[in-house]
Amino acid sequence: MREKNMIEKLKELEASFTALLEETDTEAKLADLKARFLGKKGELSGILKSLGQASPEERKTLGQAANELKGRLSASIEEARAGIERKVIDAKLAADWTDITLLGSRRTKSVRESGLHPVSIVQRELEDIFLSMGFDILDGPHIEDDFHNFTALNIPDTHPARDMQDTFWFKDMKHLLRTHTSTIQIRGMEEKKHPPFKFVAPGKVFRCEATDASHEAVFHQMEGMLIGKDITVANLIYFEKTLLSEIFKRDVEIRLRPGFFPFVEPGFELDIQCLICGGKGCKVCKNTGWVELLPCGMTHPNVLRHGGIDPEEYNGFAFGLGLDRLVMMRYGINDIRLLHSGSIDFSRQFAAC
Ligand code: DAH
Repeated sequence: MREKNMIEKLKELEASFTALLEETDTEAKLADLKARFLGKKGELSGILKSLGQASPEERKTLGQAANELKGRLSASIEEARAGIERKVIDAKLAADWTDITLLGSRRTKSVRESGLHPVSIVQRELEDIFLSMGFDILDGPHIEDDFHNFTALNIPDTHPARDMQDTFWFKDMKHLLRTHTSTIQIRGMEEKKHPPFKFVAPGKVFRCEATDASHEAVFHQMEGMLIGKDITVANLIYFEKTLLSEIFKRDVEIRLRPGFFPFVEPGFELDIQCLICGGKGCKVCKNTGWVELLPCGMTHPNVLRHGGIDPEEYNGFAFGLGLDRLVMMRYGINDIRLLHSGSIDFSRQFAAC
């Protein structure tokens, strides 16, 4: 009788444990439940203690039943604990979810927001200006051959002007990383064939240079070329003044000096007054107050010939814009190396531009 009573009690205990376990949804509640049923002063211990008064026979069967129950309760508790842990992890993942496969369709104001690189911003603005002036935008390879980078531009094999543009050669000594975007003068003429035409070509160029605040081994240029009939230096100067006032959206002081570039004759250096120091002198303008911005000139007949254009019939001009310099002037950046620093703090400043 006594034995039956005890077995009943164990069954009731298991039933109430199972009911309570179903409502247990946190680790803290689970710990309470464990203490209440399996703890030293818990319900199962209470039952086991009362076995002391039972006969040895009873003690054996009841003890076994109680121990089996203890095993089942412990297993259920562990299973419930694993379930609760899984739910916590799932909830965290759901809250911290990032979709790396889709681009946002609208700008969000987050502290992680960044934007285009300043060189890209200025390049795109320039492209818009040139498009509005009827220029085409061309692209060319970074890995060039000797012909397009030098020979066709009137810089033959042994010409000292090659030394001014030391660069990275490939092992075959026929290919190199282009030293300037002037390569596109030739590629552009080859493509367009029939003047009149005008085009620009932005891109990266490479030189084997020691770096300082205004020199980098990799930088950006935008080459321009206009070919037609009876083009004069006056056309060139007027065009460049118009271009610079579009770029800076104000009048800037400029000066023109003779400059030597084998692919133009006559050639010029167009400088603008330093916008960082207003002409007083700083490390960007090397204390001269002027920054070389737009070398240019009338296209040399040999270059026209190499591009397949008859110099007896057509002529024109070319210019090379230093994009990085322009960016530095525009944003007041006093060290070109910042542009390639990869610093997110640096780029973030242009997010709203
Ligand atoms: N390619 C020259 C350089 O990188 C720049 C240049 C000078 C381009 C005169 C031109 C030009 O088109 O007419 O130094």
